[in-house]
Amino acid sequence: MENDLLKSTSTPIYYYDIALLRRTIESLLSAASIDHRFKVHYAVKANTRAEILAIISAAGLGADCVSGGEIKAALNAGFPADKIVFAGVGKTDKEIKLGLSHDIECFNVESMPELEVINRLAAKMGTTANIAIRVNPEIDAHTHKYITTGLSENKFGIPMSQLDETVDLALSLPNIRLKGLHFHIGSQLTVLDSYRLLCERANEIIEHFRSRGVEFEIINVGGGLGIDYDNPDAHPIPDFRSYFQLFKQHLKIKPSQQVHFELGRAIVAQCGSLLTRVLYIKECPTRRFAIVDAGMTDLIRPALYQARHAIQLTGDDITGRPMMRYDVVGPICESSDVFDTDVELPELRRGDILAIRSAGAYGEIMASQYNMRPLPGAILD
Ligand code: LLP
Repeated sequence: MENDLLKSTSTPIYYYDIALLRRTIESLLSAASIDHRFKVHYAVKANTRAEILAIISAAGLGADCVSGGEIKAALNAGFPADKIVFAGVGKTDKEIKLGLSHDIECFNVESMPELEVINRLAAKMGTTANIAIRVNPEIDAHTHKYITTGLSENKFGIPMSQLDETVDLALSLPNIRLKGLHFHIGSQLTVLDSYRLLCERANEIIEHFRSRGVEFEIINVGGGLGIDYDNPDAHPIPDFRSYFQLFKQHLKIKPSQQVHFELGRAIVAQCGSLLTRVLYIKECPTRRFAIVDAGMTDLIRPALYQARHAIQLTGDDITGRPMMRYDVVGPICESSDVFDTDVELPELRRGDILAIRSAGAYGEIMASQYNMRPLPGAILD
């Protein structure tokens, strides 16, 4: 971003590098093309900014939604209904009806009562719902406990022990068309081996149902591919090749089957930064605080998940400043309003602009107005 523009911008504000977003999507599609049965849906929850959704839908990806609001946003951005999947443990009747009225590609169903409600509503509307059953595969994704989803104590998916019964129920309901199986083991996965375990578990399940005469058209392996929060400049684009290669190698699928992926973070995280101005430097006996104008209301990940985002000083007048250590904190009246502690940065001055990196996913969309603060807004470059 131009230095003059940067200096005059109001903060806090999200900055999106759209060229990087486009390069990321190109790299993703090229890596996914190793198998024509691979289809990627963008997990809309990561960032629903209209301009970003429009770019992703124009590139031909599908949309993975978790609410009626997300379905509407996806439709408005041009995602065709037959590329929209709808997940979530608590779909309301209104949301289900919205999905049915647009004849969306698939409902990812998370419980037997939900299956019965979808069947009843579909019957009332004189239609049939395409569904996939979300399985809880009981696999440890080795990520933060708030963003791991595939363990038996998690609320997501159907427990392995109830799978047979759920599949039987789905097959017996007249307004349900059972199309697939759905998995999602967690988010920000950096140990790819968890995906190998997922493939093995999926193979066992597919084989089990095959022996009972049930074939699935779609195997949806969810999302979760992690990014490099520590070195965003060294790894601006995730290693999509190794990711898709792993599924090609380990997931046993038939020529007629499709594999669906639902990536959110890996597509949008690195193109976004939160820009914030230094308000005050506060020297205390044991700590040196850099108090900035962004807070946990603008980017909640550090406060909520102890997540670390690289923090960089921007501008053309930073050379020659001595390196110092700071706790970078926001203005919110909460002790957890801390972006990071002991960060080494060139000596900071009031008015300096910091970039909090890798904030394109689960950043702006999770912002709140707590303390009656305005939402941060964005610049797209
Ligand atoms: N599919 C399902 C069923 C999901 O629940 C999620 C994310 C995704 C796909 C996309 O996962 P991704 O590829 O973005 O990792 N707010 C947290 C992350 C929550 C993720 C929720 N589910 C964070 O800031 O880290």
